[in-house]
Order: sequence, then C-alpha cells, then structure tokens
Amino acid sequence: MSKKESFGSKFGIIAAAAGSAIGLGNIYRFPCEAGANGGGAFFIVYLGIVLLMGLPLMVSEFVIGRRSGKNPVGAFHALVPGSKSWGIIGYMGVLCAFLILAFYCTVAGWTIDAVGKSIINYYHGLDKDTILTDFNNLMNESWQPILSEGIFVFITAFVIVKGVTKGIEKYSKILMPVLLGILIVLCVKSLTLPAAGKGIAFFLKPDFSKITGEVLISALGQAFFSLSLGMGALITYGSYISKKDNLTSTAFAVCISDTLIAVLAGIVIFPAAFTFGIKPEAGNELAFVTLPMLFNQMAGGYFFCLFFFLLLTIAALTSSISLLEVPVLYLTEQLNISRKKATVYSAIAVFILCVISSESLHDNTPLKLFGLNVFNALDAFTSKFLMTIGGLLTVVFIGWKMKKAHFMDEYTNGGKVNMGIRNIMYIIIKFLAPVAILIILITQFIK
Ligand code: PHE
Repeated sequence: MSKKESFGSKFGIIAAAAGSAIGLGNIYRFPCEAGANGGGAFFIVYLGIVLLMGLPLMVSEFVIGRRSGKNPVGAFHALVPGSKSWGIIGYMGVLCAFLILAFYCTVAGWTIDAVGKSIINYYHGLDKDTILTDFNNLMNESWQPILSEGIFVFITAFVIVKGVTKGIEKYSKILMPVLLGILIVLCVKSLTLPAAGKGIAFFLKPDFSKITGEVLISALGQAFFSLSLGMGALITYGSYISKKDNLTSTAFAVCISDTLIAVLAGIVIFPAAFTFGIKPEAGNELAFVTLPMLFNQMAGGYFFCLFFFLLLTIAALTSSISLLEVPVLYLTEQLNISRKKATVYSAIAVFILCVISSESLHDNTPLKLFGLNVFNALDAFTSKFLMTIGGLLTVVFIGWKMKKAHFMDEYTNGGKVNMGIRNIMYIIIKFLAPVAILIILITQFIK
C-alpha cells in the first residue's frame, strides 16, 4: 500500500482492517483471557464492550484518519491546528505498536514453530504431557524461538518495504474465509468430545458474581487489542479509506468478523481443554497444546493441523503489518526518513525487544518488570494501560475537541450516509464511551 493511495474497493478496506484485527488476539489471546477471567462472565462483558466502546472507537479512529489523511501523530495536529498536545495520543500509539510487536512476534514465533512441527507430522500420536513438556521446553530454549521470531519479523518488514501489503491482503481475502471454514469444522469436532458440555458451560454461561474489576479491565484490554484499537493502527488505515465508504458499516463488519472468529476459537478450545485435562486458566499453552491434541483425534488431522497453523501465521502477519506500519508511517511522514530505512530501523528495534521478551519466558528468569516477566509485562502494559488510555483520549478528542460539524461531515460523507444515526453515534462517542472506559479504569485503579 503506497502512501495516500486509497483502497480500491469497499471490500478492500474491510479486508485490510479485518486483517489487522483478526490474528493471534482472537485465537491465542482471547481464550487465554476468557479462561483466566471466569469464562462466561468475561464473555458477556466482552460482547458489551465491543458494541458500546469498540465500535464507536473504531468509527472515531476511521474519522480521524480519513479526515486528516495522516499518520496518528500528524493527524491530531492537522485536525485541530495549534493543539499540539493531542499528538501525544499518536506518540503513545507509536510506542504501543513497538511494545505489542515485541511480544506479538514471540507468539508468532511459536506459531511458526507449530507449522514446522506440523509439516513433519511431529504431533502425531503424542499424548498431552509430551506436547506440554515440549511447549515448555520451547519457552526455555534460547535459539529456536529467536530464529522463528526473526523469520516472522523479517517477513513483516519485507512485505512493508516491498509495498506488497495489498498483495497480501488480496490473498488473505481468500485465505481468511478458509481459516473461518477450518474453525467451523473444528467446532463441530470439539462439540462431540466427551467434556464438550462442561467446556461450553464454562465459556458461555455467565456467572455474574464473577464480574470483578479485573474481569472488566481484562475484557476492555482484550477488546481493544483484538479490534486493533487505541493505538493508531486504524487511524493509519482510516487515512487510506476512500471518501465514499460508509464508516459505520465498515466498522461494523470488522467488529462482527473479529468477534465471530474469537467466539469460534473459544468454542473449539474450551471443550477440548476440558476433555484433555488442560486447565482453562493455563495461559500460553491453552491454544498451543489443546489444538495439536484436537488435530490428533481427527480424520485428516495432518492437513487440518498444517493448514490451521499456516493460516494462523498469515493472520498474524496481516496484524503485524498493520502494527509495524504505525512507526514506519510516523518516521516517513513526520521525520522524512525513507520508507525503506524507516522499516529497517523499526524492525531491528522490534527484533531486539522481541528477543528480550521471549528470553524472559525462561524458568527463573531475571528479565522482569513490575514483578512480571517482560513478555507478560509488555502484554499487560499495552492492553490494560496504553490502549485503554489511548482509546479514551481518542473518543474525548472527537467529542470535546474536534468541531462537531467536522465530525458530522466526515461521518456522514458530507450528508450522504448515516444521517439517521449520526446523533446517537455522536452521543455515544462524546458521553457513553468515555464514561464507561473511565469507570473501568477507575475501578481498576482503586483495586
Ligand atoms: N488485533 C490484532 C490481533 O488480534 C493485534 C493488533 C493489536 C494489531 C493492535 C494491530 C494493533 O491479533
């Protein structure tokens, strides 16, 4: 995607934004968070947050990006000249993209490792304990994770330097529906497992007494992480959206497809986890041990396993591209660095941080921040802090700083679309979303 070119078709922008949204966040992180936060209670809160905060925030980011036509740092300044301090949201986004990429590439490295193991049919016939020990060994290894992370960072940077993002998106338009198809097949298989009922009850049956401040902030963080919000990625993509596209229906389509994939991942993973004796709160191993076990039980398991992990790697790639695009666009637009140099510098910085993140997963690691290993610290700091504050400031910017007439003009494409809901959307962005995010942040702060 070259600079300031706009997406060719409506489906193009949905595919690109959904490509950013759908990734490891849906299939690896969503079940982790749901498992650690009480299952059904988390799920119901999550859905509410996507609808009441995620969707309006996504619309807000698209409005800011398309109206200004700029990167997240330049955008705020361009929309309200003289209000330099709002650019801080953009700087936070650039920082956030770096930090997310560091642990994201660690997880993507495990995915690449799983692709390698699938190719040689390594999982075949292994029991749970062996796959689990293997996964723990991988975390404790030094070179193997670094190699697969390196490959992933390299491919991400390569795609951005070559400007073939659009090419990747063209393929992912075909490949993501295939991923969806595989997930549906896996759901059917998972639902026939002996402990399916228990798994589904855990995942979908809300126990309202389990809704705590921690559940709220985790769901908020997961929603923003999964939808790629609060850090400028979708402001960047917004700057490429054509003036004719309807921002509400685009955002809605992205939110629905992202949530659908996450829900399906939950329906696949929890019944299987309960059946194979993996605790729902297990964390990292939840997806990476449960899924190979599930494939082992299926007819054609070899192919499902291979294609699944391959497609997951591609899904992760379309997300990491959108992450790396944030610092790259900032460096090229604001600091006039060439696209190639900007990508190389950013990728090297990401890789160094990524090595620290993955090495911090060794048992007894000294690599800790705030009492957590660097990997977990980066994850918590970005999703529960940077993205939520970034999201809050973004809706506050639209509601309280940007001229209402400008918002309306952009949101309705100059009075052509969304006329019936424009006032409701504005009220949600101005009052409801910021108050709700603030309440969650305060609840967490008091705790
Ligand atoms: N949404 C992506 C995922 O679910 C991760 C991501 C976060 C991408 C923030 C861009 C910005 O995997």
